[in-house]
Amino acid sequence: MNYEQTLEKSKKHNQQHLLTFWNELDESSREKLLDQIGQIDFNSLDSKIQEYVKNSAPTKLPSKIEPAPVYPAIPQTPEHKEKFAKAKKLGEELLSKGKVAAFVVAGGQGTRLGFDGPKGDFKVSPIKNKTLFQIFAESIKAAGIKYGFQPHWYIMTSPLNDEPTRKIFKSNNFYGLKEQNVFFFQQGTEVNYSTDGKILLAEKDTLATSPDGHGGSLKALYKSGAVAEMKKLGIEHISYFQVDNPLINIFDPLFIGLHAIDDAEMSSKYLTKCEPLEKVGNFCLGDGKVTVIEYSDLPDELAYKKNPDGSLVFALGSIAIHIISRTFIERLNAKGFALPYHRAVKKIPYVDTTSGKIIKPEKPNGIKLETFVFDALPLAKESIILETIRSDEFAPVKNAEGADSPAVTKRMMVERAAEWLENAGIKIPKKPDGSIDCQIEIAPSFALSAEDIASKKINLKIESGQKVYLE
Ligand code: UD1
Repeated sequence: MNYEQTLEKSKKHNQQHLLTFWNELDESSREKLLDQIGQIDFNSLDSKIQEYVKNSAPTKLPSKIEPAPVYPAIPQTPEHKEKFAKAKKLGEELLSKGKVAAFVVAGGQGTRLGFDGPKGDFKVSPIKNKTLFQIFAESIKAAGIKYGFQPHWYIMTSPLNDEPTRKIFKSNNFYGLKEQNVFFFQQGTEVNYSTDGKILLAEKDTLATSPDGHGGSLKALYKSGAVAEMKKLGIEHISYFQVDNPLINIFDPLFIGLHAIDDAEMSSKYLTKCEPLEKVGNFCLGDGKVTVIEYSDLPDELAYKKNPDGSLVFALGSIAIHIISRTFIERLNAKGFALPYHRAVKKIPYVDTTSGKIIKPEKPNGIKLETFVFDALPLAKESIILETIRSDEFAPVKNAEGADSPAVTKRMMVERAAEWLENAGIKIPKKPDGSIDCQIEIAPSFALSAEDIASKKINLKIESGQKVYLE
């Protein structure tokens, strides 16, 4: 679109203020601005603004919300026992044939943690101070060796952190992985709005934008060519995880196998919530489909609802661990699909179109729209949910202090390592209150699970206060 066409389109949709500074801009700035405005989908803009930007009504919930069926972590019936054994074997086979890739969503900003830089570069391991990226990379490499395949890792960044993320990997020699097996791609962005539905300018020649949420990964995986590459490589399943959780079991044969045996398109792990209002999404059946309802959207009467035995009816916490079939992403993108937007009211710096000055607001002044990956669950033809145990697989680093802080994550890393060793008969020194009285860090190259340790028959004596690093 040239200037006249852009002006006409913008006027038609009440966004002509975007061209306020046209006369002040040089040729390249003008081109840049026209290009950005040209990327706006004007066909859906007005309804999007009406439905999501101006409308602050809570997210629409399904009319019927029921507990979702799940697989427990430990099979309880003979049929399940048999199925789990088969699934694990199948998962191992799929891994050894290189049919599964790792995929981390790392486009977020990590604002709550107050860490300046890509969150994956945050140092978190208790003894060696390894970063999140290093722990994931070492786990991926170790799984490749354990199951005998060339592991591929897909990393989604955003325009905010793409360059620094790539640099971090380069300067760390890809943490021992093959450079050609690590595929970076950027997620999309969404423009930001004022509360009355005007697109904000970040600069006189630049629209204010932000990453489109981890739901954007389902489009970005496709658009970037990642999915096409996977197809060429024979990768069928994608192990999706978040950048904040160092305990993640990236290549879990049981989870992969159950997903494959049940012909699922998108599967999830859950853990039992520790309290009714725990800040995790809730797996439910929404109008008969597996759905996640965010903690902020689950009505209190459901959050607190109890079974006759006193347990919570809606106890299935979503921890953002999924297996996604490659063909599911292909199917969605080939037909075109849209995930619902979630609205966040944020402080967004903007150019005041009257004064031309950049305003850095002290209070939230605008709207960012994001999509969430779990909103694709109801689009899957089949979807399974497998229980995982918190101490085994979930210790996210989210906040600088308190719950989900680095201190808690480090403690949980030590506790898991201690438990794995204890299971293998190694004595762990404890304080009188039962807490662990030593530091332990297990490198992924040493063990990826309690089973790995048990099979090693190690002989180890740990003294109180000792630091033990096993690699
Ligand atoms: C998320 C889930 C919550 C779940 C919890 C488990 C949402 C809305 N909620 O919460 O249900 O229980 O994790 O830890 O996701 N990211 C991108 N691009 C974006 C936005 C985020 O790649 O545009 C990535 C981040 O880098 C991170 C992950 O998505 O790896 C999660 O984002 P975050 O905003 O931290 O989610 P939470 O609110 O913690």
